[in-house]
Amino acid sequence: MKTVVINITTEYDKALMEAKRLINDGEVVGIPTETVYGLAANALNEDAVKKIFVAKGRPSDNPLIVHIAKVEDLEPLVAEIPEKVKIMADKFWPNALTMIMKKSEKISDVVSGNLDTVAVRIPKNDYARAIIEACGCPLAAPSANLSGSPSPTNAKYVYDDMNGRIPLIIDGGNCEIGVESTVISFAEEPPRLLRPGGVTLEEMTELIGEIVVDDAVLNKLDEGAVASSPGMKYKHYAPSADITIIKSDFETFKSLCESEENVTALCFDGESENLSCPSVTYGNKNDGYSQSARLFDALRELDEMGAHKVYARCPKTKGMGLAVYNRLIRAAGFKIKVI
Ligand code: TXA
Ligand code: MG
Repeated sequence: MKTVVINITTEYDKALMEAKRLINDGEVVGIPTETVYGLAANALNEDAVKKIFVAKGRPSDNPLIVHIAKVEDLEPLVAEIPEKVKIMADKFWPNALTMIMKKSEKISDVVSGNLDTVAVRIPKNDYARAIIEACGCPLAAPSANLSGSPSPTNAKYVYDDMNGRIPLIIDGGNCEIGVESTVISFAEEPPRLLRPGGVTLEEMTELIGEIVVDDAVLNKLDEGAVASSPGMKYKHYAPSADITIIKSDFETFKSLCESEENVTALCFDGESENLSCPSVTYGNKNDGYSQSARLFDALRELDEMGAHKVYARCPKTKGMGLAVYNRLIRAAGFKIKVI
């Protein structure tokens, strides 16, 4: 299959028309969002959704997020809308926020990975919402990477993974946030944070009170444990390089990197100049948003450099830092050295 790329920033009408034509035809299209690129298909067409799993090489028990363009489109997809979801939607949608609820009979087991719940989000990216509106149906869309590799934050990375596997990629430029949406379940009380992302735990707690943070957000799941969010049990965000997070001050980090052979450093902006080993930076030390915008690109750059052994500076776990830390510990296979 030939994969065509259309730039929606320069060819708006053509991009919308082609995305609409292919998705309404039951095909899978790569689309931009503010978090990461998605692989979108008509969420109400089982055969189309099955093609997403094939294109990604994704296990079928890992459910997909359903993307809608406006709040009114939520009701048909869920059994009921909990009060707290209404409050959250009012304040945060459209944004990098995915909310899980009990599903309605409209959502097939293919989308929900056989669970009785469905994950829904309204993206903030104008192109993403325009595509959903044009298609006239909710779009099931996981991140547009091959299963197991870092989520793509630009159309080129989608092409690298999906060339020959899908007919169309809509190029909408770089993703602003750079890590996937926050996933929170309202299918239980108190609500449970399954994946930290662009809307922070602190912001949500301030609005709706107690939120349980699922164990898998910060820790490795035990072998055989049942995951609240199936995606958390799979190896994720992993570059080929062997990464270890180093929890220390910069001076200690520098000594470690320079005392061993063949180390590549994954460090904060401004630190490269003080290191004699090769390095890649992933944002400002005190700004979780600048780190999230860079992290997945940095992981792919490490691979492009052919890095083998990587020592990474440790982000803070407050605010947006929690999302960055959550991705980085997975990329590092949970290897952390405290010095
Ligand atoms: O920002 C994002 O969320 C991107 C863009 C494209 O919207 N999408 C994304 O999708 O990251 P994906 O499939 O890569 O990650 C969705 C995560 C998975 O870990 C999945 O297991 C979890 O959400 N999930 C989806 N539906 C669920 C459900 N009903 N119950 C529990 N977890 C669910
Ligand atoms: Mg993903």
